[in-house]
Amino acid sequence: MRIAVFASGNGSNFEAVARQRYRRAQIVLLITDNENAYCVERSKKLNIPYYIFPYDKYSGKSEYEKDILLLLTKEKIDVIVLAGYMRIVSPIILNAYPKRILNIHPSLLPAFKGMNAIREAYNYGVKIIGITVHYVSPAVDAGEIIAQDAFRIGRRTLPEVEARIHRLEHRLYPRVIKRLFDKQGDRL
Ligand code: GRF
Repeated sequence: MRIAVFASGNGSNFEAVARQRYRRAQIVLLITDNENAYCVERSKKLNIPYYIFPYDKYSGKSEYEKDILLLLTKEKIDVIVLAGYMRIVSPIILNAYPKRILNIHPSLLPAFKGMNAIREAYNYGVKIIGITVHYVSPAVDAGEIIAQDAFRIGRRTLPEVEARIHRLEHRLYPRVIKRLFDKQGDRL
């Protein structure tokens, strides 16, 4: 199962899924829209090829995604894993990968969609906070839920909560990939 990770920023989830040992799944390449993102450095360190698609160089989303799709097809990519990818995936890629695109979001969806989810949940005063791995659908952060994890906030400060959220993400995301795409005899 050949997997492409899409990331725009730090890339800690990219690194977590790339460091996991799989039998059949393989993190084949990184795609980023941001040449200055730290995920590129991680890619070099992990020896995983990276491909930069500078969004501004395209006339629009469809040209941008068509170009990405060419690479995905050439590289025979089976599954796409979004890991801090800051763009909405359009039907051009979505239709080519039905139920084959995953995302991780730092809230217990359907609560706190969108950016700044951790801070919003914390400031709202939720007592239990968590993360969600879901299939990507046309509506943002609204696809079918695959897995969640959560913890009680207690007396933790916001930075402590953020750190714990990220630790949970780094544990859950590789596990989901294993469960969905790493079984012996799996064929898409
Ligand atoms: C994570 O919190 C993830 O849930 C969200 O974006 C963040 C990406 O962090 N979608 P990183 O780039 O993987 O470190």
